[in-house]
Formats: sequence, C-alpha cells, structure tokens
Amino acid sequence: MASNDLMVGLEIGTSKICVVVGEARLDGTTKILGVGQAPSRGVRKGEIVDFETAMKCVLEALSDAETKSDVMIKGVYVGVTGAHIQSFNNRGCVMLPDDYEEIDEQDIEDVKINAREVSIPAQNAFLHSIIQHYHVDGQDGVLNPVGMLGQKLEADFHIIHGVRTRIQNTIRCVKELPLEVEDVVFNALASAQVVLTQQQKNLGALVIDIGGGTTDFILYVDGAVKQSGTIGIGGDHITNDISMGLRIPMARAEKLKIDEGSVILGNCLPGETVVLKDDSGFAGKEVERETLNTIIHLRMRETFELLKRTLDEEAFINFIGEGIFITGGCSLLRGIDNLAEEIFEIPARVAHAQTMSGLTSAFQNPQFSTAIGLIKYAQAVQAERPQRRGFGRIFSRFLPGIR
Ligand SMILES: Nc1ncnc2c1ncn2[C@@H]1O[C@H](COP(=O)(O)OP(=O)(O)OP(=O)(O)O)[C@@H](O)[C@H]1O
Ligand SMILES: [Mg+2]
Repeated sequence: MASNDLMVGLEIGTSKICVVVGEARLDGTTKILGVGQAPSRGVRKGEIVDFETAMKCVLEALSDAETKSDVMIKGVYVGVTGAHIQSFNNRGCVMLPDDYEEIDEQDIEDVKINAREVSIPAQNAFLHSIIQHYHVDGQDGVLNPVGMLGQKLEADFHIIHGVRTRIQNTIRCVKELPLEVEDVVFNALASAQVVLTQQQKNLGALVIDIGGGTTDFILYVDGAVKQSGTIGIGGDHITNDISMGLRIPMARAEKLKIDEGSVILGNCLPGETVVLKDDSGFAGKEVERETLNTIIHLRMRETFELLKRTLDEEAFINFIGEGIFITGGCSLLRGIDNLAEEIFEIPARVAHAQTMSGLTSAFQNPQFSTAIGLIKYAQAVQAERPQRRGFGRIFSRFLPGIR
C-alpha cells in the first residue's frame, strides 16, 4: 500500500494513549484499519510531565496499532491539549492594486498572515488559523475568493495558540521514537471532525471533550469555529474527589465512579448504599450512593459552570441551533447530558465518532473521538494539498521554526 494513502492519528491522553490507522479510499471516504492503545503514564492534564515514561507508553500503543492494522507507521498527526491553549477571532486585510487581475492563493496566504499580526504572549506559537469567512470589497460570506476580482480582500480567522515549548515537548516525544510529525492539531478540533456533521456545524454546535485531565471545547456557528480552548479539569479530578471524600484508594474510586457513579442527585432511595468488597490491603467499605453522586455532581457542575463563564465572554453560545455534543471518556458518566442541559439551558447529548468505515463498535466510544478525528482532519488536509500547491493546510499550521 502506498504510504501516502495511510493516515495515523495519535492522542497522548492523560488516561490512555491511542493510535488510529486509517486508509484514504478513492471515493474520498476513509477506512479505519486498526486502533492501538496503551494506558498513559507521564502525562498530567493532557501534557507530558515525564518524557521517558510517556515515550514508552506511546511506543506500546504504536506497536499495538501496527500489529492490529498490519502496517508500519512512519508518521502521525498528533493531538495537543493543555490549559495553555488559547484562542481569539481576528480579521486580516490586504489591499490589491487597481489593475490587479484576480485574487490568487498568495493573496489568501497574505490575508492569513495579516490576521496573525496581533500580539500573542512571547512564549506562545500559533497552532491554527481557521478560516471563518472572506469578504471581497465589502461583500460578505464569500466562501472562496480565488479567481474573483476585487481590491480589498478581508478574512476572519479563528486563531488558536499555545505555549511553544509545551507543544514542542509533544512533538519531541514523537520525533524521538523516531516518527515523523505530519501535523499538530488541537484535540477538540480533531474530535469535532467526527462528532459533528457539516450540517451540525452550519446550524451551530458546541463540542465538549471531557477526558481524564482536560476539558477541551470548540464552538461552531454558521459552519465556522468561533470559540475554542481547554480547561484543566477532567475525570481524574472526580476520581480524586471520590478517593479523598470517601477515603478509599484511587483505583477503587475510579472503579466505583465508572460502575456506580452518576451526576444526577435525588435519584437514590433513602440510605441506599454501595458495598465495596475488601481487597489487597483495603478493608472494604459501605458508601452512601447519594454521597458518591453528590461528589461527582459537584465537580461536573463546577467544570460546566467554568466553561459557561468562559463561553459567555462572547455571545456565540446563543447561536448553537444543534446544541451541545459531549464526548471523551467522561461523557459516559450517567446523566452528564442532563446536567449540561440544566447549566447551559441548551439541549445536550453524548456523542462519538460516526462517519468512518471499518470502525468497529468497540471504538464507537467517546474516548476515541480525538484520535479518530485526527484521521478525518488528516484526510481533509491531504485532499486540500494538491489544490493549494504548497499553501496546503486548510486549517493552517505553526509559524516556521517551531519544529
Ligand atoms: N464508563 C465510564 N463512566 C465514567 N467515566 C468514565 C467511563 N469510562 C471512562 N471514564 C473516564 O474518562 C476519563 C478518560 O477519558 P479519555 O480517555 O477521553 O481521556 P484522555 O483522552 O486520556 O485524557 P485527556 O484528553 O484529558 O488528556 C477518565 O477519567 C475515566 O475515569
Ligand atoms: Mg482526550
């Protein structure tokens, strides 16, 4: 198989490392050939804190993916996250001479560069400049200005940036393996590629990917990204709260959360308990179900309220006609969609990757949305490449020098 038909997505998550191998089909669809995974160590809140350990885990997941898909992996699209990721919207503008023939690819690149001429913190690097809309001589809503006549080309971009060294740590971890880094993609942008359809993006939607260490979000209105970012809270915080609050070991707290937990309050019978059996050094315990659910509820409420405050800094949340799509491992918490609906006052549902062939039901699990989304992102980038003759990436990329 020609190597350029293959696309590999890698998520170095706080809880698990996931590698997805996909193959581009002639009809434009993508087939998932295999998914490899390994438990994650050396990662906190979505960022690498122990390089050597994280590398070993990535290698484990890679060899699992190679075995399952029967291919040699040479390069990956890697997801990044972390509370350092920030975003803003900005308009770029280029003036074209009176006798200019037609707007071309270089003008598109120039307007993107112009939109990036804003100050971001010195230690930060641009991760994505995602086109929202073009305007030619004041005409709004131009989808593709290439070939049009005009003297003033403007473009609105959603720009995502983050701390350069923290992004580079992820890149280095992959390069040391050694593997090529094809591109670096913000996790929520990847997840949205498979959790949402184009129509849902057009009608407006918010994707919330709640993992072990982070809550990544991305909001679409009129098919364009308007807000995105990361909050450094995830399922590990809930597990930690349960462990501290009920005085039980972390591993038991994690299992208790998954097997018995719910974010819904007031659903238990009075005095209803869950019995934790004794096990290797743990004496066993009986815990009140309502207490367990209250701990989970309070942490999830705090996370959603924090996110709502962040989103409320702009008005876009009022325009998401399709509502909220919750994905990532924590979306499996019972009742999480109801809590999101209560707090945001917008319909919410749990979502996973839907639009790939070869995807077995085991991976139609919200924990794999980011890694599978990376494949869809890669497919879009590769489809765009020949047309853009080297300007390439539809969602843009780092400034030169970051890698
Ligand atoms: N059935 C379940 N019910 C509740 N929580 C679950 C369930 N399955 C997994 N989780 C939680 O989901 C979290 C892991 O999710 P996920 O695999 O999406 O994280 P990650 O991608 O590794 O982390 P991050 O993206 O934050 O770096 C853990 O906190 C885990 O406890
Ligand atoms: Mg994740």
